[in-house]
Amino acid sequence: MLEHDIIIVGGGLAGCRAAVEIARTDPNLNVALVAKTHPIRSHSVAAQGGIAATLKNVDSADSWEAHAFDTVKGSDYLADQDAVEILAREAPDVVIDLEHMGVLFSRLPDGRIAQRAFGGHSHNRTCYAADKTGHAILHELVNNLRRYGVQIYDEWYVMRLILEDGGAKGVVMYRILDGELVVVRAKAVMFATGGYGRVYNTTSNDYASTGDGLAMTAIAGLPLEDMEFVQFHPTGLYPVGVLISEAVRGEGAYLINSEGDRFMANYAPSRMELAPRDITSRAIAQEILAGRGIHPDGSAGGSFVHLDLRHMGKEKIMSRVPFCWEEAHRLVSIDAVHQPIPVRPTVHYSMGGIPVNIDGQVRSGLDSLIDGFFAAGECACVSVHGANRLGSNSLLECVVYGRKTGAFIAQFVQNRKHPVVDEQRYLTEAQQQIQALLEQPGQYRIAQVRDAFQDCMTKHCGVFRTPELMREGLEQLQKLQQQYQQIYLDDQGSCWNTELIEALELRSLIIVGQLILTSALNRLESRGSHFREDYAQRDDTNFLKHTMAYYSPAGIDLQYRPVNITLFEPQERKY
Ligand code: FUM
Repeated sequence: MLEHDIIIVGGGLAGCRAAVEIARTDPNLNVALVAKTHPIRSHSVAAQGGIAATLKNVDSADSWEAHAFDTVKGSDYLADQDAVEILAREAPDVVIDLEHMGVLFSRLPDGRIAQRAFGGHSHNRTCYAADKTGHAILHELVNNLRRYGVQIYDEWYVMRLILEDGGAKGVVMYRILDGELVVVRAKAVMFATGGYGRVYNTTSNDYASTGDGLAMTAIAGLPLEDMEFVQFHPTGLYPVGVLISEAVRGEGAYLINSEGDRFMANYAPSRMELAPRDITSRAIAQEILAGRGIHPDGSAGGSFVHLDLRHMGKEKIMSRVPFCWEEAHRLVSIDAVHQPIPVRPTVHYSMGGIPVNIDGQVRSGLDSLIDGFFAAGECACVSVHGANRLGSNSLLECVVYGRKTGAFIAQFVQNRKHPVVDEQRYLTEAQQQIQALLEQPGQYRIAQVRDAFQDCMTKHCGVFRTPELMREGLEQLQKLQQQYQQIYLDDQGSCWNTELIEALELRSLIIVGQLILTSALNRLESRGSHFREDYAQRDDTNFLKHTMAYYSPAGIDLQYRPVNITLFEPQERKY
C-alpha cells in the first residue's frame, strides 16, 4: 500500500494550485497528485479567454464589490455570497501571485497585465494570455509542482474513494500503462477532477471530462449539489462544438442571424453580445428555433448563427484571439478575417458538483462535513456560480479555492495519523470490478451505449426543458443502465487498456446524467441555465435553495439547502 500525507486527484488548475500551496505552507508534507492524463493535458489547458480580477489596470472605477455583485446577479442569485465575497476579494492577489510564478499574461503598453471585457462583467477586468490563458497558467503551475517536489502519478485512473466511518482514508488507483492496482492511504484526500461535458454529445470539453470524481463521490453515498445547472457556452464552433472564446465577443465581435441582425438587441439590449451565457445561449437557440438560424450555404432556417469578427481587422484578431482564428481555419476552413464563424451553444461547464464549505471541506449533509475529504475547482460546488457562471470566473475559482483548500489541508493534516485501511479488501473488490467488465458476455459496444446516452441527455435535458422530455429521458437512462451491464470489451489485456477506462468512464457518465435529470425535473422554476417551459419564471419563494441529490442504485433522493445571502438581496435580473 502506498502512503502519502495528502493525495490530490486531478491535475488541472485547482489540484495543481492546491498542491503548490501545501508544499509552500509545509515543505515537509508528503503530497502527491494523481491524474488520468498528464497534468498539462488536463482540461484546464484548454481555457481560453481569461481570469477575472479587479486589478483596475484599464478600469479604475472597478471594485471587488462590483465583481461580487456581477457574479451574484450572473448566478441568478443562487450563489452563496460569503463564498463569492472571498472569490472577488482574493482575485487580485491570486493573479499577481500567478504573475510572480512566471505566468506570461498579455500586457498593456506600460507593462501591466492587460484586461478585457467579458460577458456579465460590468467592468473590463478579465486578465488574459491572448486566448490561451489556461495553457499559460497550467504550465507554470506544473513547473512549480516539480520545483516543490510534488509526486505526480500521471496516467493513473482513480477507481474508488475509500470512505469509512464518516471519513476519507484514501483511493484505489489503476495504472493505465500496465493495469497495476494500488491502494493509497492518506490523511487527507482532495478531489479536483473537473467537469462532465462528455455527458452531452456536443461539448467544448475534452474527452477526459467524464465526471469520474462526481460519480465516485455519489457512489460513496455523499450528495451532489445543484446538478441541474449545466452551462451551455454560446459560441461553440459549428458543427464540432469546440470553444470559440467569449474573448472574441469581448474584443468586439457580433452575433448575427440569417436576417443579418445583431439579434442580442432583442434579448439583452444593455449588454448585447456580452450578456451572461445563459441568456446569450438561449437567445441563439431561440433564433435557431424561430427559423433565423443559418445553413452552410448561407440560407435561412439552419442550425447555427454567425459570429462576425471582420470589422475587428486582421491585426486585432491575430494578436488578441489567434487561437480562435486558428481553430475556425483548421477545423471548418473559415478565415475569420474575411468570413463569419458558424457557432451554436455547446456544453461547457458544470455549476454544480461536490458540495464544499469555504475551506474546501466536503459536506455529507445539510449541516455536516466528511472528515478528511476536500474538493475544489469545477468538480466542487462552493457555490460561487449558483445557477449560471460568468466567463473568466472559473479559472479564478480554481486558483482562489485551490489555494484556500490547500492552505487548509496543510494545517488539517498536522498531528494526524495515517488511517487504517484494509488494503486487500479494496484490491480484491477493484480486481473483481475489472474482471467482471472484461469477462462479461455482452452484446453492446461501449460507443453504442455512450452515443445513445449522450444523445438522450442532449435531447432531454438541453437549453429548453419540459417535464415530459425529462421524464422520458430518465426512462431511457434506465434502459441504458441495463445496456451498460451488457457491454463487451474486445481488449482483455492489461497493457494500456483504454477500452476498460472508457467502460469505467461510461459508468460515471450515466450516474452523473441521472443526477442532472432528476435534479432538473424537481426544480419547478427557471433560474440561470435551467430553463423550463412549464415554469418560465424564477420562483424565489419556493426555489431560492440548493438541491442536494443523493444517489443510490435504487434511486435518487433530494434534499435542499438554503442559499447564503450576505451582500445583495435578490432582485429582478435584467441586462
Ligand atoms: O469563452 C471562454 O474563453 C471561456 C471562458 C470561461 O469559461 O471562463
